[in-house]
Amino acid sequence: MIKYKLSGRLSMLAKLADASQRLADIGTDHGYLPLHLLEKRNVEHCILCDINLGPLENAKRSFREADFSDQTEFRLGSGIEPLEFSEVDTVVIAGMGGGLIIDILSKDLHKSKSFEKLLLQPMTEQDVLRQWLLSQGFKINSDYYVHEGSKYYEIIEISNQEIGSTFQVYDYTDDLEFGYKITKGNRDEYIRFLLYRRHKYEIIMKQLEKSNSQGTKHDECMSKLNLIDSILRKVKEEDL
Ligand SMILES: C[S@@+](CC[C@H](N)C(=O)[O-])C[C@H]1O[C@@H](n2cnc3c(N)ncnc32)[C@H](O)[C@@H]1O
Repeated sequence: MIKYKLSGRLSMLAKLADASQRLADIGTDHGYLPLHLLEKRNVEHCILCDINLGPLENAKRSFREADFSDQTEFRLGSGIEPLEFSEVDTVVIAGMGGGLIIDILSKDLHKSKSFEKLLLQPMTEQDVLRQWLLSQGFKINSDYYVHEGSKYYEIIEISNQEIGSTFQVYDYTDDLEFGYKITKGNRDEYIRFLLYRRHKYEIIMKQLEKSNSQGTKHDECMSKLNLIDSILRKVKEEDL
């Protein structure tokens, strides 16, 4: 059996995909997430998709010694194109830019909305992706945050399922850089994420002040810090 260690980011995705019947992993690369889910018997069937032949071959290699041939399919193609309407209940799109995730989902909105759950893990433009999802009528069930190395990874769960107590981060949706909705179980990690982002903006602010820069960048930075503080106050008050 191939040896691999699931990163914290992929472990969180695995947890959120738990109990899916049929799952598709778009941009699967080595296929570690589907392999883990099948090994743990947490999903029944996985469709591994990638736009590039090399990564799909990597995935096939990962599965070579595993006995899951009846439960796996490997499909070459872009985004959700290799999938049929409603063919799986969960679609994972992870490790790509937010803009690319928008491109993938917007190619066929009707099909994108036919899956019960979307687990999106954008590496960039998380705020733009959230804005777009809401504007297209997707329901953001929750944002999740995973700290790994020196980074925070963000996961957006789209689903109509009820997941217990949630907290809407902000009343308006102009700025979704710091998330949209969080669940009770993720509250403490979310607070740590906000403090981490606050620290980043403080460093930028200090640099701007050092260089006597008082323009738009300074104002933007100030408004981000104020936004983080107001979310922190709110989330600490919430009885999640
Ligand atoms: C950085 S890897 C992420 C691998 C894995 N999903 C993860 O999160 O660890 C990105 C993968 O997405 C694939 N990819 C890029 N654009 C794609 C598209 N439009 N459709 C499907 N796969 C794509 C690449 O070939 C690559 O294997």
